[in-house]
Amino acid sequence: MTVPTENEDSLSSILRSAHVLLKEFMDEGVDRFQALPNHVLRTEKTSAAAGPEAGQATSVETVATPPSTSADPSAGLPGLPSLSLEELRAASANCTNCQLAEGRTHVVFGEGSPNADIMFVGEGPGEQEDLRGIPFCGRAGELLTGMIEKGMGIGRQDVYICNVVKCRPPQNRTPLAEEVASCRGFLDAQIQRVAPKVIVALGKPATSLLMGQAVAISKVRGTWQSYRGIPVMPTYHPAFILRQYTAENRRLVWQDLKTALEKSTTD
Ligand code: URA
Repeated sequence: MTVPTENEDSLSSILRSAHVLLKEFMDEGVDRFQALPNHVLRTEKTSAAAGPEAGQATSVETVATPPSTSADPSAGLPGLPSLSLEELRAASANCTNCQLAEGRTHVVFGEGSPNADIMFVGEGPGEQEDLRGIPFCGRAGELLTGMIEKGMGIGRQDVYICNVVKCRPPQNRTPLAEEVASCRGFLDAQIQRVAPKVIVALGKPATSLLMGQAVAISKVRGTWQSYRGIPVMPTYHPAFILRQYTAENRRLVWQDLKTALEKSTTD
């Protein structure tokens, strides 16, 4: 038997860790990685070596900005006074706080009932959403709408739907830390204005942002979390379900939505 050298040992330990990490990304619906330009990597907190994981590791950091716990409802709204939901929408239309403004067709602020008991938070607009200015109106949106209307038995117009970032990231990549940070005042304000009984966080970026730490969605989905005292139910993103359209994944999401619906009607 050949005894592995120290280098071989550490190489196989690196490979094992990479395997675990890749499996986790796959579980979460990640199907591609994007190399980030050097200037972005230099400004990120994660000093992961450039490589396939670098972009994703950066994206994980992206969403780890802790939520403000201040009792002041306008905390987390840098530069935004106490505007109504519609005034916030108008303000967002001219936003140039981050580089996503350059590539957008429309700001996708969010839509739904300002008195909704349930709020859905996704990641960021895709192509259709950018073209139409409406959240979740593409394929993933059709699935989400079906889950809300056919599954939960409520009208889409009776819930509130929005995203972590309001402008489409290029090639639908995960929003970067600075983009999330620039935009989060709008989300904080939307949650504060709508004051839902329950938030459903769709996928990892929304869940991590609301929880204030980077989490694996496969680990936390289906478990109650909290954002400034509002119960948060993390579940898989509908785009992930479209890619991994298994009976088990659909069952899990349905279970999470039912749990969220129950809480919104009983508490
Ligand atoms: N995916 C999202 O996260 N949000 C949308 O609005 C559409 C697709």
